[in-house]
Amino acid sequence: MAPNAMSPGRLGSAVTISISFALPNTTFPTISSKRVERQLSGSVGPLTSHATKAAKKTCNVLSYGGVADGKTDIGPAITSAFTACKSGGVVIIPSGNYALGTWVTLSGGNAWALQLDGIITRTGTSGGNMIFIEHSTDFELFSSTSKGAVQGLGYEFHAKGDTSGPRILRMYEVSDFSVHDIALVDSPLFHFSMDTCSNGEVYNIAIRGGDMGGLDGIDIWSTNIWVHDVMVTNKDECVTVKSPASNIMIESVYCNWSGGCALGSLGADTDISSVVYKNVYTWSSNQMMMIKSNGGSGTVSDVTFENFIGHGNAYSLDIDQYWASMKAVDGDGVQLSDITFHNWTGTESYGLQRGPIKVICADGAPCHGITISDFSMWTEEGSAQWYSCESAYGDGFCLKSGSSYESYAASTTTVSAAPTGYAAPTMAADLKEAFGTTASIPIPAIPTSFFPGVGPFSRLAGSS
Ligand SMILES: *[C@@H]1O[C@H](CO)[C@@H](O)[C@H](O)[C@H]1NC(C)=O
Ligand SMILES: *[C@@H]1O[C@H](CO)[C@@H](O)[C@H](O)[C@H]1NC(C)=O
Repeated sequence: MAPNAMSPGRLGSAVTISISFALPNTTFPTISSKRVERQLSGSVGPLTSHATKAAKKTCNVLSYGGVADGKTDIGPAITSAFTACKSGGVVIIPSGNYALGTWVTLSGGNAWALQLDGIITRTGTSGGNMIFIEHSTDFELFSSTSKGAVQGLGYEFHAKGDTSGPRILRMYEVSDFSVHDIALVDSPLFHFSMDTCSNGEVYNIAIRGGDMGGLDGIDIWSTNIWVHDVMVTNKDECVTVKSPASNIMIESVYCNWSGGCALGSLGADTDISSVVYKNVYTWSSNQMMMIKSNGGSGTVSDVTFENFIGHGNAYSLDIDQYWASMKAVDGDGVQLSDITFHNWTGTESYGLQRGPIKVICADGAPCHGITISDFSMWTEEGSAQWYSCESAYGDGFCLKSGSSYESYAASTTTVSAAPTGYAAPTMAADLKEAFGTTASIPIPAIPTSFFPGVGPFSRLAGSS
């Protein structure tokens, strides 16, 4: 896919899109320079361009008491600028260094944008959310230069083993929005979560966190969301879908030393459907893709994971419905069905210890309709690897065929010959060493490729 020349504001005006869901590989027509993905249920992104919003009104934080001195708390100025522009306009944080001492809750905006060209560095120490956007529609959070960032200085907490700090960015009940061209760095807790949002597009994002759990990259429990061209470094969730969620398209993701992508953790009344992950490159992570639960109820269905490349990961394809890191919850297990893994290549770190295919479904709710095809991975250490399945039905490797869907004990096949075609490219700039948790983490430039040989859908906002 060649990079195209779309403007960063992806929807100049509302467009009507007709989608046909006939064939899995149908490519949709480009409509008004907007590419629509098959898994989405309609258009995504703001309804009004930021240029149009800016023509209506701009609210520069420097005119609302903000000072770019790296010391003065910018929180009150952001809140005042928002109040003035929340009914239509652009809140501008120009380039410069700002301190955030008190967190901001920006609630009830309509047809507004937050243009973050400066660097906001955390100085406050409360828990919660540094930037919380809620009950908003037609919203865009972006940097016009691709240089805007939030520096969470999470290491100041982590070095002391303290996890009481804030998340960087949380969005709740936001519709018709985009978030793009910003970097979120070293969050004391999660970097970016989308809770009960709809019709969103997230792209050209770099997230870089410390090397420990609990520092999730992007978490989504929402509907009709397109995430693409994002890089995550941390040691927890890369881009993860939680329940409830539907119509989620995630592609061109670079887990550049991370925990890896996942669905979960899944508990009671899980409701996830119509999710596609495509072009996911995972390096030195806990897994390439995990579905994780322990007990629970509800369903996950109609999910595809295609074109995955992995290197140096512990697990690769990992369904674990007895996940030991999660406390068991009531229920026979979340029912998984119609889940396809297609076109996976690369290598795992030690396949005899952690094989590249692990499909451990709940004995109380055996999974079915699982398909594993064009899957070719090999071990980096040793000369053997295993595939393991339990209570899992479908097509490929150790999956059982038939439709009885009775539970069965784990059966493991060990192979000692490399499959053909496992070789896969690496990314030239794979992170060689984690950032740790005791020193400040530098703000990265936003990359322009997130998967070998694939360019981004939208050029960086800051490129000419
Ligand atoms: C399989 O994935 C590779 C990237 O790993 C991609 O280049 C190739 O086009 C994919 N093949 C198919 C049939 O989609
Ligand atoms: C992966 O992370 C390393 C370290 O942060 C960085 O140097 C490299 O540029 C990243 N890769 C890409 C493609 O951005």
